[in-house]
Amino acid sequence: MISFDSKKNSFRLDTPNSTYSIFINERGYIGHAYYGSKIGEDDVSYLTRNMEYGFSGNKIFREKGMFLDFFPQELPTEGLGDYRESALAVCDSEGHNAIELKYKSHKIIAGAKELPGLPAVFGGAEDCSVLELTATDDILGAEVTLIYTVFDKIDAIVRSVRIKNNGTKPFYIKKALSLALDIDNDNFDMITLHGSWARERHMERHAVHMGKQGVVSMRGETSHQEHPFIALLDHNADWDSGRVYGINFIYSGNFVADVQRNQFDNIRAVMGINPEGFTWKLENGEVFDTPQAVLVYSDSGLNAMSRTFHDLYREHLIRSPYKKADRPILINNWEATYFNFDTDKLIDIAREASKDGIEMLVMDDGWFGHRSFDDSSLGDWTVNEDKIKGGLKHLVDEVNKLGMKFGIWFEPEMISPDSDLYRAHPDWAIQIPGREPGMSRQQLVLDITRKEVEDYTYESVAKILRSANIEYVKWDMNRQLTDIGSVALPADRIGEFYHRYVLAVYRLQERLLTEFPKLLLENCSGGGARFDPGMFFYSPQIWCSDDTDAIERLSIQEGTALIYPLSTMGAHVSVCPNHACGRVTPFKTRGYVALSGTFGYELDITKLPLEERAMIPGQVALYKKFSSLVRNGDYSRIASYSENNEYDCWASIAKDKSKALVTFVQVMNHPNYKTRFIKITGLKPDARYKVTWPDEDLSKLQPVELTGLTIAKAGIPVRRDWGDFQGQLIYIEEK
Ligand code: GLA
Repeated sequence: MISFDSKKNSFRLDTPNSTYSIFINERGYIGHAYYGSKIGEDDVSYLTRNMEYGFSGNKIFREKGMFLDFFPQELPTEGLGDYRESALAVCDSEGHNAIELKYKSHKIIAGAKELPGLPAVFGGAEDCSVLELTATDDILGAEVTLIYTVFDKIDAIVRSVRIKNNGTKPFYIKKALSLALDIDNDNFDMITLHGSWARERHMERHAVHMGKQGVVSMRGETSHQEHPFIALLDHNADWDSGRVYGINFIYSGNFVADVQRNQFDNIRAVMGINPEGFTWKLENGEVFDTPQAVLVYSDSGLNAMSRTFHDLYREHLIRSPYKKADRPILINNWEATYFNFDTDKLIDIAREASKDGIEMLVMDDGWFGHRSFDDSSLGDWTVNEDKIKGGLKHLVDEVNKLGMKFGIWFEPEMISPDSDLYRAHPDWAIQIPGREPGMSRQQLVLDITRKEVEDYTYESVAKILRSANIEYVKWDMNRQLTDIGSVALPADRIGEFYHRYVLAVYRLQERLLTEFPKLLLENCSGGGARFDPGMFFYSPQIWCSDDTDAIERLSIQEGTALIYPLSTMGAHVSVCPNHACGRVTPFKTRGYVALSGTFGYELDITKLPLEERAMIPGQVALYKKFSSLVRNGDYSRIASYSENNEYDCWASIAKDKSKALVTFVQVMNHPNYKTRFIKITGLKPDARYKVTWPDEDLSKLQPVELTGLTIAKAGIPVRRDWGDFQGQLIYIEEK
């Protein structure tokens, strides 16, 4: 709901439980008055700081330079007196750095709007409405539109900014962030996600300190290391109580998300494309659209924030026909064989897997060119018939005959120096002329911003998909960008490269889905470096991490599920000792942890110990029984191993609250230790539920019957098992 009060010149953006309030002040500046729990129909512009402090303590508006440094702005700009972090910075053709936005007009539109070339939330008039607030800088000839998509049934507001040059000369955008949020500090904490390869998205929480703090990527992609997400929350907020502001970015390239606490104890949070290494030349008449950033508000803790993000992404961002469907249970040969496989080996794996109910074979890296290690052939997307004897179609047909689907791995954006492609087109690799480009995983990156390179890349993938019945693609990206240069761009446009690169990735995936609309696409980047909402627009699932160890996965999946639906998390059962960390965990626990993702296997089933192999049909049956609940239910975090150093627990609760699946992992066991009771909020307080252990011998266990209220307040008992790394699945169903 968006409303405009023409007397007070203010806008009110309402979601079910939040109000966001904007006003235009006497001088035409677009001010931010309020964002938080829903409030009454009042003019709240009084909430904004209106005293001029600084050096003189003069009354309001005497000097613009002072005023701008405390006025809460919807889109703060650089150069004219707001010394805090800006969201928009422009340099004119004479080299001056200033832009000042004054309100001109606005529009309120029913239903979401597309964003050209970029992923964007969608929704009809019954789901959301859009406020377009247009402001101008007449000296520069700039027209800037602040766009807010406000959801009626979800506590989310999605922002982006459109910049147009209406002047007579070009200007350079130095910084175009998607969102700024000015709020008063209230002893807030801040949560961000950090990690590394095989250790992605671990949560970190600390008090917001004075000055700037934040997360950033300059790697050309989202990265393993930092994530475009910030939560600002009450110091005492926990999973189910307290105020939380969550901010996330629908983008897959360089980002910045900063929080700045200033002299007046105000907080400004900003998020957008990283301005480092970025400039965008805007000629007369041209338009630049920023990607979208999402604001979520919860007045009842982190779980409510997570559920809002999950609902928004499931209902209004993921387009794939698979988003509501069961995903095929796959078996991927990467951890099974690495590069050492051939047709016979793959068919052996598929044959055995099909006997146990596994539904798709995925052929990973190493099937093309002469690749038998990671040092060659990227770019040469021709089937290596020394390995794939009889050709790809033969292999796919044989796998199909076993009743299984077939999927394939690509790394389309890359080029190995040892490849026919590089020998023919060395200039297609991203590089700075005269400088030896930095290698990473023995490969370079293709300059897909060039039309001929984009077309070659597209055809490389498409021709393979046209050649056989391939129903799934894993789109990988195993190095990050360096040595930015492109023959396609003049000197004053090299700063556009990173963003143009991301736009080219989006274009390529859009083309692929247009030609192959039923394709199940899974994005991946050395594990989870491209796990971001930008990618959800193209792929309903993303490989979460190269770390398949059940215990390492607890923190990775916890941090990921803080924002992203479980239906998007690629999760597989693999062998022990785990290939990333050497840990040995029970096969059963590996299955339980993977069940909270897309579920599949990544092992050589022909070599699996018999007692583990014997568990696969049971795991497949559990997936079939619970996948819809896990995919479409409400996620709820109950306990975090990273906080308590002992156990982890989470639940998926059906939207109608009639059932819930609880996953409990006892990480460390202790002898003679306390009894544990798990409290699950979100069920119907008065309903009676039967609590069972669906994967256990029930003759040894007594089902329990309890009301939702008792389950929430007193909890259900969990067994203490012998040994570390033990898992339990608990199923709660209304009687
Ligand atoms: C990345 C992926 C892995 C695997 C390898 C192949 O690391 O995350 O799953 O596909 O590449 O080289």
